[in-house]
Amino acid sequence: MNKLLDEKIYLIDHVCDNFRIKSFADLGGGWGVNGGYTFYTLQNYKMEKAYLVDTNIPEEAKELQKLYPQLTLLESNFGSNDVLDDIGFVGAIFLFDVLLHQVAPDWNEIIRMYADITHCFLVFNQQYLGPETVRLLDLGEAEYFKNVPHTREEEPYKSVMEKMYQIHPEHNRIYRDIHNIWQWGIVKNDLIKVMKEHNFKEVYFNNHGLWGGVNNFEAQSFIFRKSF
Ligand SMILES: C[S@@+](CC[C@H](N)C(=O)[O-])C[C@H]1O[C@@H](n2cnc3c(N)ncnc32)[C@H](O)[C@@H]1O
Repeated sequence: MNKLLDEKIYLIDHVCDNFRIKSFADLGGGWGVNGGYTFYTLQNYKMEKAYLVDTNIPEEAKELQKLYPQLTLLESNFGSNDVLDDIGFVGAIFLFDVLLHQVAPDWNEIIRMYADITHCFLVFNQQYLGPETVRLLDLGEAEYFKNVPHTREEEPYKSVMEKMYQIHPEHNRIYRDIHNIWQWGIVKNDLIKVMKEHNFKEVYFNNHGLWGGVNNFEAQSFIFRKSF
């Protein structure tokens, strides 16, 4: 299992200590961390309800869930309206390393959807340093691989390049649109603008520097809070 990142823990502590959050949903909290941010929050703060949503919920998370009856595991795509309906309302939404992967609905549509059911977003995302927000595959294959910290030879990138417009059997959508690859270069101002359109104000920001050995993505963390 990957070590939990201090920066993401800081976001959780900050929000739980300062905003008296009683519920949360960790969107895409599975891979590499087995729901680690969800369980950290449940172990350290009193929560009335919690959701861990991922297309693949690791077995370890399923085992640990048994200790936390207030936690619901949703093994689904969090871009679906069914997931929104299941969650209802939560005090905070965790978006850790997931926004740049979102297509159909795209990252900005995910924010629009969840803006209606929360008062707070915790975002840790690899933000693009290019001039404008871009769908990375639109740059063409050569530029795509200059921008992302992956190679054409590794999976799932190899399959995506070979079967771009075929249907992925697990995700039931074209390979080009799966969330397992880097999809978006999102510039900071656009993230803030989209949040603002939905009445969310940036109340915390930190820049953790270049990410993944590429020159045009920085890890940045944000807390956005709804203004009433
Ligand atoms: C890069 S990992 C990040 C894991 C964890 N949040 C962290 O910060 O270390 C992305 C995770 O999000 C999940 N994911 C991404 N988009 C998703 C979506 N639309 N619906 C469900 N799961 C998604 C992936 O399956 C994967 O487990």
